[in-house]
Amino acid sequence: MASSEPQGAHPEAAQEQQIDPWSVGAATDAEGNALSFDYVKISQKWNTSLVDDALLERFQKVTGHAPHRWMRRGLFFSHRDFDKILDRYEKGEKFFLYTGRGPSSGSMHIGHTIPFEFTKWLQQVFKAPCVIMLTDDEKSMFKDGLSLEAAHDLALDNAKDIISVGFDPKNTFIFSDIEYVGGHILMNAWEFSKTVTFNQVRGAFGFDGSTHTGKIFFPAIQCVAAFATSYPELWSDTPPKDRSKETAKMACLIPMGIDQDPYFRLLRDNSHRMPRPSPKPALIHSKFLTALQGVGGKMSSSDPNSAVFMDDTPNQIKKKINKHAFSGGRETLEDHRKYGGNPDVDVAYQYITYFEDDDEKIAQIATDYRAGKILTGEMKKMCIEMLQEYVAGYQARRKEVTDEVLRAYMTPRRLEPSGSTTLPDR
Ligand code: TRP
Repeated sequence: MASSEPQGAHPEAAQEQQIDPWSVGAATDAEGNALSFDYVKISQKWNTSLVDDALLERFQKVTGHAPHRWMRRGLFFSHRDFDKILDRYEKGEKFFLYTGRGPSSGSMHIGHTIPFEFTKWLQQVFKAPCVIMLTDDEKSMFKDGLSLEAAHDLALDNAKDIISVGFDPKNTFIFSDIEYVGGHILMNAWEFSKTVTFNQVRGAFGFDGSTHTGKIFFPAIQCVAAFATSYPELWSDTPPKDRSKETAKMACLIPMGIDQDPYFRLLRDNSHRMPRPSPKPALIHSKFLTALQGVGGKMSSSDPNSAVFMDDTPNQIKKKINKHAFSGGRETLEDHRKYGGNPDVDVAYQYITYFEDDDEKIAQIATDYRAGKILTGEMKKMCIEMLQEYVAGYQARRKEVTDEVLRAYMTPRRLEPSGSTTLPDR
């Protein structure tokens, strides 16, 4: 750059958005203000496909269900080969769902539960088996001072939270890496790691020569959980002794936050090199949920005011939204009535779009807000009621999750759909 300005003259000068599995930062303008994430740009940069109308129509046609509002409204905005999963489903071929969570302390917030809600919904639509990986090993490798024992405890706790989302108890296997990774899944990880060079992971994750080798090996574990051969017990009462070519044919669909894509790019680039190749796993990516403070922020477990947590009381929810939810309304009542508000940046409105299924109602709320007919306080009130209801439902289910229920989900066993899974409309 032909600038003779002293370095550091603009400490907050504009920065590019930055996304990887461990840190996420929105772009900033020249004054250092966070801008909203540019998801189209991410999709182009990483060469993913956008969830478009054609895909939504095909989904409806093949499954007989309207696509989830989170697909219709672009929260799950991008994919790799989701269309191929629909082709398989149409032909009656079996596939499984795989997702996961890096266990962390404390309660989950709505930014955590929404991807799981979506996965549960897919499970109901496709009647598909689902595996959920808790990466206690990863957390301990990547977080200084977190022992494997402590990470494992967190995993068990988080598993109860995940169960409370309502996964089909007969068709879902939840596992802690520390407990389960051995046997076939570990054999897959070693075989996979043989296909991955240091240059590849360095590119994907930004590792360098001083990165410890635990971090370098871990991606193989997260990747091979997408191979059906990793879990012989799940597909048959008499699991094969070796990893059969037949099982390897089963496809996998991975719902995830877009920040996890680097793992699964690596998987898709290398999976054909496995001794028993599986179809390239399909992916569907979500955006980050808007933090209470507004666009460009991310909900954070360590900031209680950045998100609505699943253990918040109704009153805490009310206070948080009223006090911290960024408003697109005007300064004064008079101005708001006259000029109207901006739903695009209004966090209460954004949250309403997460939970209200009726598209016409949503459109009406936005129109009325722009016209100044709905006030900020009224918008917040609607949002508060929806969140209180969602969190209360979750808390009631959470109370039922005993250690026994936990162990039932965590036992490797043949998976099959429960008799009647009717689609809830939430
Ligand atoms: N690494 C993820 C995290 O830290 C956890 C994870 C493992 C995951 N496997 C996954 C997330 C598959 C999405 C899909 O949260």
